[in-house]
Amino acid sequence: MSQYKYPNKVPFYKFLFNSTAINKNPIPFYKKWFDMHDDSFSVISPFRGRVILTRNATLSKQILQKQHKIYHKSKIQTKFLSKYIGYGLLTSSGEYWLKQRRLIQPGFHKEKIKNLVSIINNTIREQVDKIETDTYVDLYPIMHELAFEVVAKSLFNYSAEKKTLRRLQVIIEQLQQFIVKEIRQPHKKLWYVLKGDIRYHMKLVKESRDIINAVIENRKQSKESHDDLLEMLLNAKYEDGLSMTNNQLIDEILILFVAGHETTANALTFTLKLLAQNQDTLKKIQAEVDIVESTNSSLLDTILKLKFTRSCIDESLRLYPPAWITDRVAVKDNQLGDYFLKKGTIIGISIYELHRSVSYWKNPDDFIPERFIEDNQRHKSGYYLPFGAGPRLCIGNDFAIYEMILVINEIIKRFDISTNNNVIKVNPLITLKPVGLQLKFTPKC
Ligand code: HEM
Repeated sequence: MSQYKYPNKVPFYKFLFNSTAINKNPIPFYKKWFDMHDDSFSVISPFRGRVILTRNATLSKQILQKQHKIYHKSKIQTKFLSKYIGYGLLTSSGEYWLKQRRLIQPGFHKEKIKNLVSIINNTIREQVDKIETDTYVDLYPIMHELAFEVVAKSLFNYSAEKKTLRRLQVIIEQLQQFIVKEIRQPHKKLWYVLKGDIRYHMKLVKESRDIINAVIENRKQSKESHDDLLEMLLNAKYEDGLSMTNNQLIDEILILFVAGHETTANALTFTLKLLAQNQDTLKKIQAEVDIVESTNSSLLDTILKLKFTRSCIDESLRLYPPAWITDRVAVKDNQLGDYFLKKGTIIGISIYELHRSVSYWKNPDDFIPERFIEDNQRHKSGYYLPFGAGPRLCIGNDFAIYEMILVINEIIKRFDISTNNNVIKVNPLITLKPVGLQLKFTPKC
């Protein structure tokens, strides 16, 4: 008998049998199997070996926090993603990751982000000015452009032309779409090679790296000083006094673009839609925004005072976590709760299902922002993980929260928002994407 012990097995043929539907949206399948198998199940995949999926908070805490040294990022993040978006914070692991995290972390401290808030807010205003009013508009493209611009301006301030940034945005979008195909349909790998898809996307990678390299070189030669993330990355010094090479800078910048805009765009889209659906909550936010506006506070104080707005964002991130799943691989044999895993076992933690589990939440499918006011300790629990947990916690979490509060503030100050239905459809790709959400923005008199 094997010394290893895994959660109940779901036979692989059930995945094969439902592969088209699972490809479209695995969430309902995972939910059914979690319900049937006590929050964790396993499957043996011919492509990835033994895979476990879990929505158990104790196991998640052990993997992401207590025993993070045993559970590393899997090949999906380190190999597949890094091939296209570079070997930076999100995709690296081990010693190299730690060295990079120590180098870059100070640039994301609250104190440093304080310097960025006016760049962020000016960019938000420019984008909000462009919103078409008095008609239903597709929300996601608007939030996507806004979030991309915010990361771009925070990184490069005004050192890159609009046309260049637009091209970078298109390339990143195309690369992300192809990465999902490669991960979801590994059996088509040969077909992608034969069709020239891989070659085409590697050309896009080169183009994106050349674009970023040119911005870096320009900045290095310019005498101007900027209070942006690029300046922080250029000035950051390792313990031996050396700085990052251009290749390392490009890796990290690409990662910040990828990790920092789609997630925020998704979250903003879901949040605004939820607010439009819940007019009572919207009124409470409006009242809070009016009060804070009347105090003439600085931008940073405004952010800190908008506590109910913050809890609406927290609740939206609970119901629709943009990073809906993350994974790790056991780098040695390990006891995980009641299980005993063999080295190489992959574990997927369903953040989406943790956030909707009746074991941890009352009325888990309802939008109740007040729950975050009543108990703000949830952020420290093992079952609320919109930004992950442990040493690999999202480096941009404060940045993202500040940005989202400023966006909601700006929109609520200027518009009444309404929706024509109460349906929220999702498409779980690398991130949980909203599908076809529309909103009407009516300027306030
Ligand atoms: C609502 C917005 C965001 C969400 C929901 C989000 C979520 C996450 C999650 C869950 C992780 C951990 C992944 C894992 O453990 O496997 C992560 C990592 C990361 N995020 Fe975010 N993120 C957001 C915004 C941002 C922003 C704005 C930036 C940068 C400007 C950013 C940069 C990163 C980076 C660099 C990592 C890798 C950190 C490391 O491994 O050291 N994220 N994010």
